[in-house]
Amino acid sequence: MKQQGLFGSERARRVSARYEAKKQRGVPPLSGDISNLAGVPATAESAGERMHELSGPAATQGLMSPFDPVSRQISEIEFRRFQELIYRESGIWLSQAKVPLLVGRLAKRLRFHHLQSFRDYYQLLTEMPEERIQMLDAISTNETHFFREPKHFELLNADIFPRWSRDAARGQKTRNIRVWSAGCSTGQEPYSLAMTLLDHFPAASGWDIRIIATDLSTRVLNIAEQAVWPIETAREIPDAYLKRFMLKGIGEQAGKLKAGSEIRALARFSRLNLNDAKYPVDGPFDLIFCRNVLIYFDAHSRERIIRHLLKYLSRDGYLFVGHAEGLYAMGSEIRAVIPTVYTPGAGAQCDATS
Ligand SMILES: C[S@@+](CC[C@H](N)C(=O)[O-])C[C@H]1O[C@@H](n2cnc3c(N)ncnc32)[C@H](O)[C@@H]1O
Repeated sequence: MKQQGLFGSERARRVSARYEAKKQRGVPPLSGDISNLAGVPATAESAGERMHELSGPAATQGLMSPFDPVSRQISEIEFRRFQELIYRESGIWLSQAKVPLLVGRLAKRLRFHHLQSFRDYYQLLTEMPEERIQMLDAISTNETHFFREPKHFELLNADIFPRWSRDAARGQKTRNIRVWSAGCSTGQEPYSLAMTLLDHFPAASGWDIRIIATDLSTRVLNIAEQAVWPIETAREIPDAYLKRFMLKGIGEQAGKLKAGSEIRALARFSRLNLNDAKYPVDGPFDLIFCRNVLIYFDAHSRERIIRHLLKYLSRDGYLFVGHAEGLYAMGSEIRAVIPTVYTPGAGAQCDATS
C-alpha cells in the first residue's frame, strides 16, 4: 500500500496543482485562423458518435458476471459504495451491469492520482470533495449531435415559432424568448436552438433571445463554451445554417468547426446539477430541453427532476425530452403535444424564478 499516508493536505496540494496545470491547457483557441464556412465535406463519423456510450457492447462482451474478469480490480462492496455515491451526487443509477463501465472510466482518475486501488480512490473522494466533480465528469455519458431528434426542430419551425410571431404581432406575447438547455453536453443542442431561433427571429426584428445551457460536467461545458468541434460534425448542420452561422478552421486550425459570434452571443453556460435541491437559473422559460439526460436516472429521480423542471417552465412553455424518455407517470401535470414534447397540464406548478 505505497500510497497510504499520501492522503490529507500534501496529497490534496499535489492533486490540485496537477489539476490546475491540466485546466490551464484547456482547448486551444482558434484565434485568427478562421474563415467563413463555404461547404464542408461530410465524411467521418461525428464527434458525438466517437464519444463513449454508457452501455455499448464493448463494455460487456465476454463477461461472465459483472465482477469477473474485467473488474477484478473492484470488489462488490467497493462497487456498491461508488454506486451509492454517484446516485447521491448526480441521480445517475449504475446497475451492476455497469461494473466494467465504472472500472473503465474511473481507471484514468486512479492513474491521474497515482493510486493503485478503487478503495484508495474512494478514500480520496471523501477527503477531496472537489474530486467528485472530476469523477462525475468521467462517469457521465456525453453523446450529442447538432439537430438531434429532427421532429423537435420541425415542431419549433412549423408550429411553435410561427404562433409566437403571430401572438407578438397581436400584442399577445412579448418579444422575449427564454430557453434552457439542461444537460447540454458539448453545446450542439443549445447552438442548434440558437441557429433555429435566429432564423425565425432575426436580431433586427426586435426579439430578445437568451439561451441558458447547463451541465453536470465541467469538461463538456469547457468545450461548449469554446464552441469548437471536429469539422465532421458540420454534416449534421443544414447547409444554409453552416454558411450563415459557422466558421471553418484553416491553417493550424484546419479540421475544426467553430460557432460564429452571432450564435455564441445568445448562449451562456454554467454548471448545474439537476439532482440539486435548487436550480440557480432565472425562469420562467419558454422552452426547456432536457433530452437524453434522464435516461440514466431511476424512475424516482426522473419524476422528481421533471417536477422540478416544470416549476421553471412558463404556463404556455414547452418541455422537450429524449425519444426514450416518455413521461407516462406525470398525470395531469403535463400534456403531450407530440410524443416527447410536453406543455404544463392543469395540475402543474409553473413559473418559478430562482
Ligand atoms: C447524453 S448527453 C445529452 C446531451 C443533449 N441534451 C442531447 O440530447 O444531445 C447527457 C448529458 O447530461 C449530463 N448530465 C448527467 N447527469 C446530470 C445531472 N445530474 N445534472 C446535469 N447534467 C447531467 C451529462 O453530463 C451529459 O452531458
